[in-house]
Amino acid sequence: MLSRIANRRKMPEQELPRDEAALRAMLNPARLPRHVAVIMDGNGRWAVKRGLPRSVGHRAGVKSLREVVRLAGELGIGALSAYAFSTENWRRPPEEVSFLMELFVEYAERELAELQRNEVRVKVIGRLEGLPERVREAIAMLERETLKGKRLTLNLAVNYGARWEIVDAVRAIARKVKEGKLQPEEIDEKVFSSHLYTAGLPDPDLLIRPAGEMRVSNFLLWQLAYTEFYVTPVLWPDFGRVEFLQALVSFQRRERRFGGLNRNPVG
Ligand code: IPE
Ligand code: IPE
Ligand code: MG
Repeated sequence: MLSRIANRRKMPEQELPRDEAALRAMLNPARLPRHVAVIMDGNGRWAVKRGLPRSVGHRAGVKSLREVVRLAGELGIGALSAYAFSTENWRRPPEEVSFLMELFVEYAERELAELQRNEVRVKVIGRLEGLPERVREAIAMLERETLKGKRLTLNLAVNYGARWEIVDAVRAIARKVKEGKLQPEEIDEKVFSSHLYTAGLPDPDLLIRPAGEMRVSNFLLWQLAYTEFYVTPVLWPDFGRVEFLQALVSFQRRERRFGGLNRNPVG
């Protein structure tokens, strides 16, 4: 116990071990984040570095998602939100966009059995109406077939933009006010949160951004108000169990204050 605490304090982040067992020993299972968000970035750079087409990087990124989902379930992290395609990603060349759309369909079909086995419930968050029919059908299937999953909620953000999410919430609330079901004075932070795509889930405790970019790229703007950020230069296809554990150890060393003066324990 004492050595576990000493370990957590002493070792600088850059020198965290790369050994899974050692990292696990450093983790306090009682203070794991309840919700982790991840911006799955760096697929293109990973492929280009190898002289490969960007599509190969996206495919390699699916493997990382699989590993992170598995480990989150094993550790008992209740929710994982993974950013797969933003409302801004339509600006990419049409071939890349179509490849990604096909990859979502493939993901839904190929991963279903394992997701069910691991008791994962998938929820796709984003503007589904803007997606091709085939993708919408695959999403509906994946959500329906994983409804019983109680161990981990996987929010897959597809055609997701936080500004649109907020606009959609405002529209839904405005409709209720217009119909007399809600008074303007009754709108508070709790009511507003309950109209977001992430309704019912706690805000993320930890946001992981691989590939080194120091920005949120329109992800979960409302929900990240007090989230701890972890940015790593590792590209998403190289992000696996060890990197995820390192992020969790780093998170547990943070001092969260939520604006107050107390040293609130994390998690
Ligand atoms: C993330 O990887 C995947 C999507 C945004 C769909 P990128 O494709 O953005 O990879 P980089 O940033 O170009 O390396
Ligand atoms: C963020 O990555 C979106 C996803 C990972 C889906 P981007 O590659 O689109 O972000 P920017 O353009 O670098 O901000
Ligand atoms: Mg990118």
